[in-house]
Amino acid sequence: MNKKIYPKIVGTGSFTPPRILTNFDLEKMVETSNEWIITRSGIKERRIVEDGMVSSDLAFEASKIALNEAGLQPDQIDLILVGTVTPDYLLPSTACILQDKLKIKKAAVMDIAAACSGFIYGLSVASAFITNGQHKNVLVIGVETLSKITNWSDRNTCVLFGDGAGAAVVSATTEEKGILGTFLSGDGSLANLLHIPVGGTKVPLTKENIDLKQQYIQMEGSEVFKSAVRAMEDAAVHIIQKVGLSPEEIDLVIPHQANIRIIEALAKRLKLPMEKVYVNIDRYGNTSAASVPIALDEARRKGLIKEGTNTVLVAFGGGFTWGSAVIRW
Ligand code: ACO
Repeated sequence: MNKKIYPKIVGTGSFTPPRILTNFDLEKMVETSNEWIITRSGIKERRIVEDGMVSSDLAFEASKIALNEAGLQPDQIDLILVGTVTPDYLLPSTACILQDKLKIKKAAVMDIAAACSGFIYGLSVASAFITNGQHKNVLVIGVETLSKITNWSDRNTCVLFGDGAGAAVVSATTEEKGILGTFLSGDGSLANLLHIPVGGTKVPLTKENIDLKQQYIQMEGSEVFKSAVRAMEDAAVHIIQKVGLSPEEIDLVIPHQANIRIIEALAKRLKLPMEKVYVNIDRYGNTSAASVPIALDEARRKGLIKEGTNTVLVAFGGGFTWGSAVIRW
């Protein structure tokens, strides 16, 4: 009888650009203060790409680290999934560009546009393809250059976002551990609360709408906040129950880093002490699809994740989209 196949993360990597933009720098750009930003969001600084650096460059650096740790040659990857809302081009996908940079010859390649949930959506797709036997080694990326779609004169948004990339190699294994389960959901009726109004095929770029800076992210922050707390709690509870763990068995939660108050509210609702919740928003801000895989990679490198650690990943983003995963290491 064939043994059951499980999807397992065998390597992770992350990369953030070296340039740091502090809250004090932002004080010189818009009417804001270091104190307001820290109190309302928990962010102290974020990383921003230099001109000319694009999402595939960040993804490439994170992928090299993940592949090296996995001990795989690039050519052993048979599927590349890139979660991003800041692709290099509208066509082709950033996954195609990354494939070429990594010199991977034969692999299926696609982008996943699920905003901040993009990496968890990618993990879920990778798990399904591995479990059904279609792919063996999947490179899943979350990458953003949000600085390029940020209106740097809008204090409601520009203090929140940052750039970065995180990667994971997911491989087929017969060990009964790895990604135990994933959950995905969404609600398109709330799309207008967090969107970029122009630049797609419905409203193409014009001189007029560019002058009005409509090609950048617009967000109803407090509405998004409320939905984020609710949806992340639902997603975390759902997946913990689905895989049959009790809340006490959860060792570490790695939430999307959008706002420290959202993360604290989530921990409270899950009745988890903050020591069990990974936080790095102070250093990177909200890096959308990159936030969960950067945090995951950091948590592993800090030794917070060991053999047997039960980890919950949970995210929420524009769309709206949300999702979760439970991993036993
Ligand atoms: N500096 C100073 N004041 C500011 C700033 C700023 N940077 N930004 C807004 N304010 C002001 C507002 O104008 C408002 O002033 P008013 O009362 O005179 O009108 C006041 O501060 C309060 O604004 P709120 O929007 O109510 O502030 P809130 O407490 O909700 O915090 C924030 C705003 C940080 C944006 C929060 O709502 C948030 O984090 N929302 C969720 C974001 C999120 O989760 N996004 C997820 C997905 S992102 C993605 O998919 C790419």
